[in-house]
Amino acid sequence: MKDTVRKLLVHYKGILAADESTPSITKRFSDLGLVSTPELNKEYREMLFTTPDIEKYISGVILFDETLRQKAQGEPFAEILKNKGIVVGIKVDQGLESFKDTDQKTTKGINGLKERLEEYKKLGAEFTKWRGVINISDLYPTDEFLDDTLGKMADYAKIVQDLEMLPIVEPEVLYDGKHTNTRCEEVTTKVLKKLFEILKQKNVDVTNLILKASMVLPGKDSGVSVMPLEVSNSTLRSFQNSVPQEVFGIVFLSGGQAPDQAIFNLNEIVKLNKEKHFGPWDLSFSFSRALQQDAMSIWSGKKENVIIAQEKFLEVLKKTSLAREGEL
Ligand code: G3H
Repeated sequence: MKDTVRKLLVHYKGILAADESTPSITKRFSDLGLVSTPELNKEYREMLFTTPDIEKYISGVILFDETLRQKAQGEPFAEILKNKGIVVGIKVDQGLESFKDTDQKTTKGINGLKERLEEYKKLGAEFTKWRGVINISDLYPTDEFLDDTLGKMADYAKIVQDLEMLPIVEPEVLYDGKHTNTRCEEVTTKVLKKLFEILKQKNVDVTNLILKASMVLPGKDSGVSVMPLEVSNSTLRSFQNSVPQEVFGIVFLSGGQAPDQAIFNLNEIVKLNKEKHFGPWDLSFSFSRALQQDAMSIWSGKKENVIIAQEKFLEVLKKTSLAREGEL
């Protein structure tokens, strides 16, 4: 597990989240007028993974079940990535379901997890991801909900570590909503504190996991926009008050921010932590939309667009790689 952490957290490199579930990729494609099918999903992911030189900026890729089983030009995707020195990961949660007739959604996927992990290991996966979703309102999140969803996340992490795979725990505090930055910081801190309390209670080794976190931001519909310096101060303060020092790395999701917004915020967070030492964690990225959005729209399902889409993908990766060092 430590070896996998070391392979994933490397200077100038981060993790590509290419683990959109069938409903998520269907939504992304339909925004471009495309219909998602396993074949079209495969062509899209082949475009991403065969982009020349991605291994200079990507240390790991998180796949979805369907993709881990697919081949391109006769070669499994897992092999294509491994041959580039990229570590293969897999999303293992099975999406969300309503929590007790509230608007809160808890994560599914503990049933049969051990058996699925054993198969994923054989298919070449070395690390795993589990996403929980926390929405902010005046009433939510409730303590009862957090105990439930973070409890499942900790159960997942324990099962994964028992099989000697590396877990990524992703408690995503959603960007959707009208909340203030202060409220987001308060909720993020509470969620992370509780998560690490529960992880310790359930004997999860916090030195052998990676935290995938959201940035502290005012809600998307709040009408307020904040500068990267404020985002970085509130995000790092939140981590300082909640994430144990023994955690080796924190990787960020982009959460629906515009690509440049996510990239510049990451740059500022890394820069500020280098200057003011809020914590010892290695900070990196595990973006999905911020890395893929422009390339996907250039590609638009057409073979003749593959090369220009790959050029765009590489350009965004280069920029994000510099942001990962605070060097933009
Ligand atoms: O689960 C969500 C992905 O891992 C991160 O996606 O960067 O589009 O928020 P995002």
